[in-house]
Amino acid sequence: MPRTVPAPPRRGGRRRLLVGITVAAVAAGCGSGRSPADPDTIARGQEIYEASCVGCHGGPTGGEINEIPPRHNAEGHTWHHGDCVLEEIIREGPAPRPEAPQDFPTMPAFGDELSDDDIAAVLAYIRTWWTEEQRDFQDERTREDCAGE
Ligand code: HEC
Repeated sequence: MPRTVPAPPRRGGRRRLLVGITVAAVAAGCGSGRSPADPDTIARGQEIYEASCVGCHGGPTGGEINEIPPRHNAEGHTWHHGDCVLEEIIREGPAPRPEAPQDFPTMPAFGDELSDDDIAAVLAYIRTWWTEEQRDFQDERTREDCAGE
């Protein structure tokens, strides 16, 4: 099966178009991982992310792997966790860190505010920031971490 070569990053309006084309190409079955969510779901995820998450976690680019709060983009390490792990952190907040200093950054639980569909939409949006290899790796983690969930 032919692999898609990711389009080089462009500025401004063309980028949206190229992302659209890439999404369409992957949806057509060129990628080896699961198909991306439909554009409406991704748009909804983006809306939620920009309203509730971007202030702490930053956007699609920039940052480093060991930053706290973690970056969710391709520079961060969120893609090392399976879906069920990420969903639980969003729903319930991160696990307590009793050994951490008092001012260690933390995160509110969003379970009262966001439905399971909202959380899935945010993750679908975040996935669009990852490389195809990262998405494949994360799919594998989801299969390993979340079997039976
Ligand atoms: C007030 C700041 C803040 C807000 C707002 C916030 N987060 Fe977080 N988030 C954090 C911090 C800090 C951590 C790391 C906590 C830890 O490891 O103990 C974290 C961890 C995470 C993780 C685990 C990521 C990883 O790489 O391990 C996910 C997923 C996540 N947040 C998603 C979200 C989403 C989605 C939203 C919006 C709905 C959101 N966060 C809003 C501060 C925030």
